[in-house]
Amino acid sequence: MQNNTFSTLFIGQNCIKLSSVDSTNNFLKNLLSNSEPLAEGTVIMADEQFSGRGQQQTQWQSEPGKNLTFSCYLRPIFLNATQQFYLNMAVCLGVYSAFKSLYDVELDIKWPNDIYYKDKKLGGILIENVLQGIQIKQSIIGIGLNINQEQFPTELEVKATSLYQILQTDVQIMPILQELCKQIEVHYFKVKEGKFSWLKKHYLQKLYRFNVASYYRQNEEIVLAKIVDVQENGQLILNLDDRMISVGFKEIEFIIP
Ligand code: BTN
Repeated sequence: MQNNTFSTLFIGQNCIKLSSVDSTNNFLKNLLSNSEPLAEGTVIMADEQFSGRGQQQTQWQSEPGKNLTFSCYLRPIFLNATQQFYLNMAVCLGVYSAFKSLYDVELDIKWPNDIYYKDKKLGGILIENVLQGIQIKQSIIGIGLNINQEQFPTELEVKATSLYQILQTDVQIMPILQELCKQIEVHYFKVKEGKFSWLKKHYLQKLYRFNVASYYRQNEEIVLAKIVDVQENGQLILNLDDRMISVGFKEIEFIIP
């Protein structure tokens, strides 16, 4: 489906809507590996993913027809691989801003890429970059957001939420996709313009548990620490007993009440 209802310059101008696919990230990857060039900003969305993927080889489960599962193709060739986390920041801030502007809902960004409401996950982002030398040649931005799902499987019930659970009403999906594309584009331009301090400042402002003493699991131990910074390579900086430690994604687990 092609449409012109997106008030963007390029993100979403080419929007392909599928009823069912294994994963929109996989579908986009396959399209890119075919020889036909694909327009930057192409969006693939699906009503159902039967093999949706999350970070760290997890599965992304989403009730068919109720939620937003989509992927967007970007070419941030201007960004060094060592700075790739600015792209994560831009996408997270885009998602945050879309919900703020549409519903005045105050979401948090949980490092590195999760979208939270209070202590529960509303959505997640899976960014898959293809490098060329030290630059990012292609980026597949996969976003899954729980929108109209009323209930979750028992194992997810305590940690997942949806817009339905927040607003207590159903909403239309397409206007959310349009606003997301708009806000992601606004923030992507910040990356393109090299507004790195701006991105980091705003990312930290919206960051779940920023500067708040909280519990984490590190090396099998429960520790009390404070998030104080994020590096451009995505490492999280925590203040632990007045020492600054830098951790990667697999090295720390948030203990959530
Ligand atoms: C996470 O929180 O673990 C990231 C979840 C990302 C899910 C989205 S849904 C659209 C896109 N296609 C996928 O297979 N995964 C991403």
